[in-house]
Amino acid sequence: MTTTARPYVGTALDRVEGMEKVTGRARYAYEHSPDELAYAVPVQASIARGEVRAVDVQAALTIPGVIAIIWHRNAPRLAPADNAELSVLQSARVAYRGQYIAVAVAETLEAAGEAARSLSVDYAGEPHDTELRADHPGLYRPEKVNAGYPTDSEHGDPDAAMEAAPIRVDATYSTPAEHNNPMEPHATVARWDADGLTLYDSTQGASAVRATLAALFTMPPANVRVIASHVGGGFGSKGLPLAPVVLAALAAKHVTRPVKLAVPRQQMFAVTGYRTPTIQRVRLGAGSDGRLTAIVHEAIEQCSTIREFVEQTTTPTRIMYAAPNRRTTHRVVKLDVPTPSWMRAPGEAPGMFALESAMDELAIACGIDPVELRVRNEPDADPETGEPFSSRNLVACLREGARRFGWADRDPTPGARLVGRTLIGTGVAASTYPAYRSPSQASARVEPDGRYTVKIAATDIGTGARTVLTQIAADALRTSPDRVTVEIGDSALPPATLAGGSMGTASWGTAVVRACEALLEELDRRGGDLPSAGLEAGADTKEEIGAQERFSRHAFGAQFAEVGVDVDTGETRVLRLLGVFAAGRIVNPKTARSQFIGGMTMGLSTALFEESLMDRQFGDYLNRDLAQYHVAACADVRDIEAVWVEEDDPHLNPMGTKGIGEIGIVGTAAAIANAVHHATGIRIRDLPIRLDKLLR
Ligand code: MOS
Repeated sequence: MTTTARPYVGTALDRVEGMEKVTGRARYAYEHSPDELAYAVPVQASIARGEVRAVDVQAALTIPGVIAIIWHRNAPRLAPADNAELSVLQSARVAYRGQYIAVAVAETLEAAGEAARSLSVDYAGEPHDTELRADHPGLYRPEKVNAGYPTDSEHGDPDAAMEAAPIRVDATYSTPAEHNNPMEPHATVARWDADGLTLYDSTQGASAVRATLAALFTMPPANVRVIASHVGGGFGSKGLPLAPVVLAALAAKHVTRPVKLAVPRQQMFAVTGYRTPTIQRVRLGAGSDGRLTAIVHEAIEQCSTIREFVEQTTTPTRIMYAAPNRRTTHRVVKLDVPTPSWMRAPGEAPGMFALESAMDELAIACGIDPVELRVRNEPDADPETGEPFSSRNLVACLREGARRFGWADRDPTPGARLVGRTLIGTGVAASTYPAYRSPSQASARVEPDGRYTVKIAATDIGTGARTVLTQIAADALRTSPDRVTVEIGDSALPPATLAGGSMGTASWGTAVVRACEALLEELDRRGGDLPSAGLEAGADTKEEIGAQERFSRHAFGAQFAEVGVDVDTGETRVLRLLGVFAAGRIVNPKTARSQFIGGMTMGLSTALFEESLMDRQFGDYLNRDLAQYHVAACADVRDIEAVWVEEDDPHLNPMGTKGIGEIGIVGTAAAIANAVHHATGIRIRDLPIRLDKLLR
């Protein structure tokens, strides 16, 4: 009976660390306080481009309790890094306003802060360029885009097909720079001793931090230990080590004492990455039956002068819809701006805003229902590679969503439903996210008392990773979750991939299952005879993942939104949001729902609020706290629901799972913008949907 073989995967197990968290016993990076602790407060550049000529440290050093002021003249040397963001305090160059140029270390946080503020910095400033424009002369074609995807793709003759198409959409969309704001800002406690470096770090991946820091300080990885037991969100901003963790380690080395460094919320807007702004032109050509003949999706983005970072904005367009002619491109320009980084569904989220808005425009141009239009353009196989989909249930999501949302009676006429002074409209958009998997290692151990311990350097950034790995391990060991302890969040455990790319559960789960299987096999071989010292087995999924069959693996979903727009003020409220997802087997309905509606809430936030504004004069983002950078609050989220369709996919991993962390945000903003058009007749192609754009 397959149901008893896996009784815990699929159940709503409570978070295994829930009690620890609600009673305050769970400790986050900043809460670790080794003896002899000192506090570090970083200093940021106040010019957007140029050089630090000198830092006058005299006044700062007279402040009681100040231990050191570190800047490029006296900073410990680091090995060269591929990512120049990590070469903290290694040169006089300033590549963007807000870049770290010094750090004050003191006995107390207050003294360090006062010292940091008292520094007098002499700059040689240079003119800066921080404006992304579609006609920027510096735009170039990068070698590759993120996740290793080809920069461009071309199939058939999209230009000729566009020319010949009876129905055409040609529109340019833009998305602003957006900044990640996890509840817990980045923080590190760094301690050096005879064995090397220990870091309590708020990170999505302890193994990657270990490898990177070991290389920077020219040490074997074994001499670096990174502990991240609990992490209060990351959304990509803690995906890879950035300047703050390096600065903490460097400061601790310089003062030969443990150092605590938290990134204040305001500093996060410069040093911990952000979503690149995009300008995207989408052209769709179709027959009058709505069948696509051509899709062209061209994206423009920015990165900093010191690190090329190019989001895969148009890659979802390579797999979404059937069309014989297609072109997707990415161009980027290096500006004197902070370095962009990952932000939940980097690429897919902005890219699908453009594509799914354009699909809505096409539906209207063809006079076809937008759900039906998408169903009509469903491909049989991956449209670019020809590979079969491991599973693809977009149509099921659209149909199920339409049924639950009450789509059938929808009158497509825009601007036709006025209730009091509020215009009401509904919109739909598709969603997708790749089902990645990355090699990881794990160990499983049994004690003579029948208790199990599973170890893997996975990270729980609030998603429920610890809980779902406990369920997966319990099933693989044919035992119950209360007999299994899963240890994660420590680079001393078997190395694992990061909590990113929505691949945590699939990657770590595979390693956990294989380690548990190896343990049971070993027990079997011993005829069930368990040594008094217990028994342990391990697994490494590198070969298994390297040898997996060729399939196009993606999760899909459908987002439905109902909005109300005040005709006098232009204020938009999202009255209802429904997401229907097809993401393989759902390991834990409780934590999964939380992931989905969390992503959808970020999508709502993207649609209506989030926008980092560039101050051209200073060359920096202007809004840098939660008073000025608006994120959706509870009152903005009214009726939100996420459900899923059954999906049995044997081509993924032993659990049959696809990632669920990021798909919730994808398509949400388009569904809302499409609903705003349906409500008002106004097409907002530039996010966010501010009231001034609607009143214009
Ligand atoms: Mo996610 S943006 O890959 O952490």
